[in-house]
Amino acid sequence: MSFSNWYNRALNRIWGFVEDRTSMRKWALRPQPEFTFKPSYWTGAFVVNAFLYQVVSGALLLLYYQPSTAPTLTACGQAAGTYSVAPGAWCSTYYILHSVPMGSLLLTTHLYGAYAMIFLMFVHFYRGYYLGVYKAPREFSWMVGTLLLVMTLGMGFTGYLLPYTQLSLNATNVGLVLAIRLPTLGPLLAPFILGDGTAQGLLSRMFDAHVVLIPLALAALLYAHIALFESHGIAPPATSDPVQRRRYTEKDDKKAVPFMPHIFFYIVKWGLLYTGVLFGIAALWPWSLPTYVGNLAAAGVVTEPDWYFLWLFKFVDFMGVTPVLAIGLTTVLIVYVLFLPYLDRSKRTHPRDRPFFIWLGTSLLAFFILMTVWGGETPGVEIAPMLVAETIGPIFLVNAVVIILFHWRYRRSYQRRLAARSSPFAGAYPIRGAPAPAPVTAAEVKAGE
Ligand code: HEM
Repeated sequence: MSFSNWYNRALNRIWGFVEDRTSMRKWALRPQPEFTFKPSYWTGAFVVNAFLYQVVSGALLLLYYQPSTAPTLTACGQAAGTYSVAPGAWCSTYYILHSVPMGSLLLTTHLYGAYAMIFLMFVHFYRGYYLGVYKAPREFSWMVGTLLLVMTLGMGFTGYLLPYTQLSLNATNVGLVLAIRLPTLGPLLAPFILGDGTAQGLLSRMFDAHVVLIPLALAALLYAHIALFESHGIAPPATSDPVQRRRYTEKDDKKAVPFMPHIFFYIVKWGLLYTGVLFGIAALWPWSLPTYVGNLAAAGVVTEPDWYFLWLFKFVDFMGVTPVLAIGLTTVLIVYVLFLPYLDRSKRTHPRDRPFFIWLGTSLLAFFILMTVWGGETPGVEIAPMLVAETIGPIFLVNAVVIILFHWRYRRSYQRRLAARSSPFAGAYPIRGAPAPAPVTAAEVKAGE
């Protein structure tokens, strides 16, 4: 018997033994169609992988981190280069980085893992946006997802202050000023965020939000998100071709793959790769701790948030943009994303059938990238209205021209196809062994219009 045969039989026996005693397949999610065996269908699961790593690494960091602003003179007295005292939170972070075995790797992977989770979440979000997965019946999945997005950014915001560096305190203060200026909600939120107005009051609140309140909300929302996913099943590929659409919804062609163990281990495989890459990057480029709050040498520290809030900080630099306007526009953006399923009413999911929403999404994506780079290059530098118009205007304009041209060309060729009453894609993506597709009926053409 070859080694691979022996190996597979051994694995099967072990799996059979475990399955007999646990009935694991029964607690697994529903089987999914075979075509979902591609990373692009599991972007959300990759975010879950990243989240789980954050929970584990965060729990280990809690063993050493102290959320205190009290002056401390321990190992960190020397660390600061002098024998002066530094806040306890900064000292404990310094201790993790320099004295805890593997502490630097642990803290760096937690930080880079947060970046990765936010990045992967935006990939998951934009994939859903472009492929119209928010359409019926998945509207609530999308809305719960939007709340997850806000909570995840909240995790980033609250975590930023915890090392208690002058840089993180400055940026947190700017963020808080923006939040407190929120019409109606701001004054209500202020006492909860600021507490008794002391430095310790603020740090304690940020710590509580970062390790208890937001993770609990995230876990509850994630449960609802996955429960909704389980009830609807995975969204079929976006298509404007009636034959294709029928194929993906017809039961016979849906070769289902069990979640346990196939899909589960597929996701675990990607999760392990993620962890390996994260450790590799963290080992090569360990994070170094900026100086502590109150260090006189920190007087010239630039106020700069983490990359995912840079666009908002740069926005406040625009002449005439007040904190109320900045936070107001951010609220409009969130409300737009939240209610998108009810704004984009057409039944079509393919990007080429939704020119307006693709224009808006692409323009906003380009806007965020540009503002992030701009914010990183010139943080805190005021920008004149003319320069704003010259830089931002072309993004929206060029996108509009390109999308209008593509759409016009597509409509013309599509009209021709409708006239022929059958799709030219029929049979273009044949499913092996499947009979030739039936011609498209007039009713199907109408439904697709
Ligand atoms: C912490 C952030 C998030 C996590 C952990 C998460 C997790 C997941 C998971 C595990 C799935 C199952 C399919 C897959 O793996 O892709 C999923 C599907 C989905 N998510 Fe998320 N998600 C998050 C954020 C979002 C956001 C920001 C949105 C949009 C605003 C969103 C909208 C959706 C929708 C519509 C589906 C169903 C897609 C389909 O059936 O193909 N999610 N999410």
